Amino acid sequence: MTNSKLPNTTDSIFSIMSNLAHKNKALNLSQGFPSFPVDTILKDYHSEAIKNNYNQYAPMAGVSFLRESISLMMVKLHQANYHPDNEICITAGATQAIFTAIQAVIHPGDEVIVFTPAYDSYIPAIQMAGGIAVELLMNLPDFNIDWQKVIDLINVKTAMIMINSPHNPSGTMLNHNDMLQLEHLAVQHNLIVLSDEVYEHITFDNNIHLSAARYPELKKRSFITASFGKRFMLQDGKQAIVSHQHI
Ligand SMILES: Cc1ncc(COP(=O)(O)O)c(C=O)c1O
Repeated sequence: MTNSKLPNTTDSIFSIMSNLAHKNKALNLSQGFPSFPVDTILKDYHSEAIKNNYNQYAPMAGVSFLRESISLMMVKLHQANYHPDNEICITAGATQAIFTAIQAVIHPGDEVIVFTPAYDSYIPAIQMAGGIAVELLMNLPDFNIDWQKVIDLINVKTAMIMINSPHNPSGTMLNHNDMLQLEHLAVQHNLIVLSDEVYEHITFDNNIHLSAARYPELKKRSFITASFGKRFMLQDGKQAIVSHQHI
């Protein structure tokens, strides 16, 4: 008999809703289905790599050209410097990045504050590390964060705060004041921040995405996760957004 570390984790909500949509022949809004074809530039690069026998193991942290490009992008988007060799790491999606970051720094008994509702891989990843997920329900109906409640939850066991802006599922974004509050608490209590920014380019009403990279003290103590699965580039360089990825 197996003794699972996650006895209470069942199918993800995405699988449950997709199965239900399939069963009931209903419109499936539970996960992203891009409504446009793969860009020809991407297809060409892909077939070129195959034709050129590009078949060696990549460096563990990811291909250096890609890491360098991401480093330049972070300067362009957030005026933030990240060294491509030791501050940027390519993973197989953001889910793996989140899992890996948590396994690397969360020890048994550590508490991690998670704002709910949250992407459903967060809590199992914390539990796999032996950590304790301390859930704080966001204020309804606006899905914002009551920082006084966060302060009340912090104790000597608190090791990490996880944020997700723009937020899945509500789409709300943390504002400058939220980021300052977070930065202040992270410094005061020596906390690690995991800033899940996979929807960084899905913003509305001229709202600007405020990355943890823009706040020097947060930058020092944050893992920032991003995802190619949430953005696509068109041939003319404009961004085409997969606007319905689980959001
Ligand atoms: C908030 C959030 N973070 C992370 C992910 C995972 O991203 P990836 O598909 O790159 O694993 C998702 C997935 O859809 C998500 O909604």
